[in-house]
Amino acid sequence: MEFNVKSGHPEKQRTACIVVGVYEPRRLSDVARRIDEVSKGQLSAILRRGDLEGKAGQTLLLHNIKGTMADRVLLVGCGRERELGDNQYRQIIRKAIQTLHETGSMEAVCHLTELNVRGRDTAWRIRQAIEAAQSALYTFDQLKSQQEATRRPLRKIVFSVASRRELQMAEQASFEAQKIADGVKLAKDLANLPSNHCTPTFLADKAKSLCKLHDNLSCKILTEARMKDMGALLAVAKGSKEKPRFIVLEYNNNKKKDPIVLVGKGVTFDSGGISLKPSKDMDEMKYDMCGAASVFGTISAVAELQLPINVVGIIPAVENMPGSQAVKPGDIVTSLSGQTIEILNTDAEGRLILCDALTYAEQNYKPDVVIDIATLTGACVVALGKYPHGLMTNHNPLTNDLLAAGKFSGDRAWELPLWDDYQSDLDSPFADIANIGGREAGTITAACFLSRFTRKYNWAHLDIAGTAWTSGKKDKGATGRPVPLLTQYLINRCSDDSSS
Ligand code: BES
Ligand code: MN
Ligand code: ZN
Repeated sequence: MEFNVKSGHPEKQRTACIVVGVYEPRRLSDVARRIDEVSKGQLSAILRRGDLEGKAGQTLLLHNIKGTMADRVLLVGCGRERELGDNQYRQIIRKAIQTLHETGSMEAVCHLTELNVRGRDTAWRIRQAIEAAQSALYTFDQLKSQQEATRRPLRKIVFSVASRRELQMAEQASFEAQKIADGVKLAKDLANLPSNHCTPTFLADKAKSLCKLHDNLSCKILTEARMKDMGALLAVAKGSKEKPRFIVLEYNNNKKKDPIVLVGKGVTFDSGGISLKPSKDMDEMKYDMCGAASVFGTISAVAELQLPINVVGIIPAVENMPGSQAVKPGDIVTSLSGQTIEILNTDAEGRLILCDALTYAEQNYKPDVVIDIATLTGACVVALGKYPHGLMTNHNPLTNDLLAAGKFSGDRAWELPLWDDYQSDLDSPFADIANIGGREAGTITAACFLSRFTRKYNWAHLDIAGTAWTSGKKDKGATGRPVPLLTQYLINRCSDDSSS
């Protein structure tokens, strides 16, 4: 899909379709009013007849609108003007794009980017429009033997800004949006790929091919022989025939700054191991590598944007399976940090691979901050649902930066308390720490476990169990989150020099 920005009069656009907004109740937006004027009241006559109320997401496709140079005019309901906020804006854009795609306009000029969105400027509206458009048209059909082809697919869309003065800013926003959208798509594609295709070795090969695309991106792949001190990670890998891989991606584009390290959980399938999961919805555990996928997507976006920072991506990749070699409840292993762990539940495997990756970050880098991203706990889905990621950190400025990046990008996080009070839930009579707490506060006790391995640096943990994919038969699929949040955080880190 090709995106462009431009400014100009709506009636002068020579295009297959021009897209304009109508507020509820039956009120033309500024651009729609202009078209109404040149067409001598055609739009207002149609509204008076009651064809479109203007509710958010309603659409009406019109032909033969006089005075314009467009083949069609698409009216899109925008809801009440003073209620137009972030979510409603994205919904309107998504609906417009889907309608264009299904009604034969192969290109279009969209004026919805000129709407007033509460508290948002032109750059934000362009950014969000492009990201929403790209994701509205996403499909994952590479494993179908025959792809369904849309007869006249939408190929190119021009987003309009009100004045020439805004063009330069809009072009920068458009550039950023496309790179972020590509990162989201990469994350979705990797995550949607099932576990017989997407194995730890496959992820390692992906890392290698990503590095070939960028001069300042390199990678190291550690195989079992070089992972022998990572007792916690290896314990998880033992039950599977698939070999584990420890993937390290390094993006270097700044001689002075310490790296920001992203650690992504890469369990390519989580059966639970000997603590086997119930079979209902178990297929969704192919998504247990969404943290890893988001690290790929973010690093790819950062490299495309050529941000002047250093970023390290660390991905412990394993498959969690039962088998005669598998780790068993009660087994005690020694982690890379030297701390011993009593594995009471083999289904709490994410924290076992992450703890060794977090220690690896400490031993091999001087991280400015470390952020781990993981589909870590079902409890997070219960606590927060599918809208925000769960956020826990040991450093307040980092909390604020991530929450802000989430709000701006529309990829929001919500903080949960990482208080010491919860730590004793992890006491073990036989080892330094147990890998599960009690029934309560499962998301927080999982983060408490990780916190035992992150004392030496500023650290944040994003639990994306509820946000990384959507369930259900029809709209099932990876969301590509939190690529927008992470990329925004990194973009912000380029402009301020505070180290948080
Ligand atoms: N990958 C799962 C968490 C998960 C479950 C994410 C369902 C999304 C949907 C993780 O490895 C896991 O199994 N966690 C256990 C932890 C428990 C054994 C303490 C869980 O949440 O049940
Ligand atoms: Mn598990
Ligand atoms: Zn898991």
